[in-house]
Amino acid sequence: MTKYVNHDLKVSPTPEEAARQTFMSSMRMYVLHDLANGMRTVYESEVEPKFERKNKRTPKDGVEVHRALKKDPTFKFYSSMRCNAQEMVFRSILPTVERSQDTLNKKAKALSRSKKANGTVETDPNFKVPRSVSAIDVHRMPGNYDTEYGPDDVTQGAVYDNGISVFSMGFFGENLDDIGSSISMFIKNKYPKFAPKRILDMGCTIGHNTVPWAKAYPKAEVHAIDVGAPVVRYGHARAQAAGVPVHFHQQNAEATDFEDESFDLIFSSMFLHEVPKKGIKKVFKEARRLLKPGGLMLHMELPPNKMLGAYDSFYLDWDSYYNKEPFYKPFRDMDPRAVCADAGFAKSKFVQYVIPSLGQYGEKAVKDSVKKQTGKADDQTGRFAAGIHWYCFGAWK
Ligand SMILES: C[S@@+](CC[C@H](N)C(=O)[O-])C[C@H]1O[C@@H](n2cnc3c(N)ncnc32)[C@H](O)[C@@H]1O
Repeated sequence: MTKYVNHDLKVSPTPEEAARQTFMSSMRMYVLHDLANGMRTVYESEVEPKFERKNKRTPKDGVEVHRALKKDPTFKFYSSMRCNAQEMVFRSILPTVERSQDTLNKKAKALSRSKKANGTVETDPNFKVPRSVSAIDVHRMPGNYDTEYGPDDVTQGAVYDNGISVFSMGFFGENLDDIGSSISMFIKNKYPKFAPKRILDMGCTIGHNTVPWAKAYPKAEVHAIDVGAPVVRYGHARAQAAGVPVHFHQQNAEATDFEDESFDLIFSSMFLHEVPKKGIKKVFKEARRLLKPGGLMLHMELPPNKMLGAYDSFYLDWDSYYNKEPFYKPFRDMDPRAVCADAGFAKSKFVQYVIPSLGQYGEKAVKDSVKKQTGKADDQTGRFAAGIHWYCFGAWK
């Protein structure tokens, strides 16, 4: 289980700071397990039967579950604990990161220039960060992905790396790369003849889920884009430290400057839900423009609402209402098949998979899942809980 970042850009917490970080991981575990299970029990035993008595039916979707449960003290307690835990996760790592700012910036610069790997990084001082990123601190992360404290600054990359290590309670794996590692292993085994020469990761943040693709396809040229300059700088230094060549760019996935048909594989993970609906449509069109014929577009996300029952929809939409994720629910309300079709992908070329976590289940389970695919989400899909699975969807061009 990872609690702290453990690579060349590691920052050193004092024993008190380390204890606080450990406490915050445990507190989140308590909220997401004990309190969440308690809330579900109250819903099933009290709130839903009451709704049914009044309406002669069960709630039809997550919105109705939310409305019915909202005034219940269990929900209020769960929600305030979760909001506070979210803020406290970032507060638990900020003093260490802030104290290390100068050293981190120097280390990142040195790693970026080093010959440990031949990746590159490009940022653009005139780049216009979209308001969906510049105007909010998504999931209560102070400074979000784009704040810069000076030239060559990487602070927000470190805030994300350290914050998400505490937040994810080990479920993202030692290098926060379980999603990329599980999905790339699955694709390699499912399509053994598919050998992408150029790969693009959209909304890569610090490239933690880009690096596994470069490892899975070592002959491929791997590119990663994000709108945040500090995160791509940090991501490049992080990949260099791991000895993995990745080319990072500060670019908007809605309209990149790459050539038509220049990639064989376009991937994203946990990206689309942070993009407004209009932007998502542009991202899909852009992905189609960039893909070579026969190429694959694949997006990892939480499963869409239409795949889930009313309670699970409500549960996964919680972030949209209370965790500064305004685009989460609108995205999860979309039909993945329709979004791909609207962008011009043939309906017959649509794919979706539910893949076991490599870290939790091991290599054999990931490989076995190639044959056992139903593409159906269950209550372990996308949840930080024992037995986690990753949902992804996309299309071949
Ligand atoms: C939750 S993070 C994704 C993290 C990462 N891909 C992972 O696997 O965990 C979402 C990222 O998308 C980026 N982003 C948001 N809108 C974007 C856009 N239009 N183009 C490129 N990146 C964008 C944000 O800056 C942020 O780094």
